[in-house]
Amino acid sequence: MPSLARRSLYRRLLWTSLSTILAVWLVLFAWFYWEVTRVGSGYLDGDLRGLARSLGTVYSADIKTGERVRIVDQLIGQFGHGYSEKPPLRSELAYRIVDKRQHLLAVSNTWPELELPIRADAPANQGRWRILMVDAVDAPVQVQLAVARSFVQRVQAEILVFFLMPLIAAVPIIMLLLRVGYGRALQPLALLASTITSRDVQSTAPLACPDPEYQELRPVFNSVNELLSRLATFREGEQRFFADAAHELRTPLAAIGAQVHLLARAESEQERAALAALLDASIARSGELVGKLLTLSRLDAESAQVRSEPFDLAALARVALSRHVPHALARNINLAYDGEQALPCRGDASAMDGLLDNLLDNAIRYCPDGASINVEVNAGFASARLAVLDDGPGIAPQWREQVLKRFVRLPDNTVTGSGLGLAIVKRVVELHGGSLLLTDGLNGNGLGVEIRLPRSMMAEEA
Ligand SMILES: Nc1ncnc2c1ncn2[C@@H]1O[C@H](COP(=O)(O)OP(=O)(O)OP(=O)(O)O)[C@@H](O)[C@H]1O
Ligand SMILES: [Mg+2]
Repeated sequence: MPSLARRSLYRRLLWTSLSTILAVWLVLFAWFYWEVTRVGSGYLDGDLRGLARSLGTVYSADIKTGERVRIVDQLIGQFGHGYSEKPPLRSELAYRIVDKRQHLLAVSNTWPELELPIRADAPANQGRWRILMVDAVDAPVQVQLAVARSFVQRVQAEILVFFLMPLIAAVPIIMLLLRVGYGRALQPLALLASTITSRDVQSTAPLACPDPEYQELRPVFNSVNELLSRLATFREGEQRFFADAAHELRTPLAAIGAQVHLLARAESEQERAALAALLDASIARSGELVGKLLTLSRLDAESAQVRSEPFDLAALARVALSRHVPHALARNINLAYDGEQALPCRGDASAMDGLLDNLLDNAIRYCPDGASINVEVNAGFASARLAVLDDGPGIAPQWREQVLKRFVRLPDNTVTGSGLGLAIVKRVVELHGGSLLLTDGLNGNGLGVEIRLPRSMMAEEA
């Protein structure tokens, strides 16, 4: 039995069914109660009217007085047996019969209690009596009949008991039947739960539906299977990523090993210095690669939510450019900034900084000496534009999609690198809800990296 503190589908079904049954029961009760006892047209008043008519007939007919009293007594005695276990007492029924000229023909000894005469055609409640006046159209007499309200109340109470008793008796039986029925009906759900929990954690193969005929289970199965297939793709990607990362790390580590080996055997100070410089570069490369792997794993983390802090995109771009000036100068590369003086934005400033570093690093790394690199920042209507353009060798259109993937580098690359820079750029743009496009660069040459960031990311200008 599930604990009461926890929400239970099963209990919910049980209560819904039970309250529906109770509601229907209540409606039936109200309807029956009303049908029997409603004033004027209810069954009780209908029967009273019948009795009044019979009394009228008895007093219109030519019958001996003794016989008449006996028949009246019998009629009164028979009334109301169907309504209550205890038919109305003599003191609960009163009548008064008059002729057309209002001469009294007969009156029960209970009648004087009532205020007389009663002038109404409709039934009325007066004090403890419910009075009905019947004018028999074809009879020369008028009959006034009254039934005590205590009798009507008894009838009402008995109707209530009549409905309540079976209800009280039936509720536990209904509960038991529903419990057994729902327990059986919900069994496929329990089976589904055990199928899922008994799965091997390593397995991402689609789940086989144990009860395929239940259409309610289909959507659950479909979504679990969709999740499993997404998980399979994710795991495949992750495995590939680990394999590629290990492979990429092995290269500089192998170089470090060889360099250390050579360094130990170096014969001259000059050779030692040259090998130390190579060793230093290899270590720096490994460090850079590990740094990029860490950045990507941080950006990939399920909880990777882009920070939303205010920053100036134009200022950020200019500072990033100035950081790369020494490298550019060494290669006689011309760096330029073009665009807004200030562009207030909201987002992850340090991630955007990393993005700019990767793009500028690529442009300087892959462009020949003397090349030009432009960084442009513009405020558009619905988005902000950030572009890094160069006039270097560029990337052929068929490779532009590919190089955004992790560890993908152009085949004829002579410069070292791990193939992670553009993947990081793509992920940062994704996390900011923006778009990334690789196109032609300056004057139709080189590479242009066009980034659009949604306007919502931009801060409201003060
Ligand atoms: N501005 C550019 N001009 C020409 N080719 C480029 C340019 N930027 C990137 N590429 C090509 O795209 C490939 C992928 O670039 P990416 O930045 O992802 O990796 P990487 O520069 O090789 O290594 P990493 O950035 O991880 O050190 C590069 O290897 C290079 O061939
Ligand atoms: Mg790069």
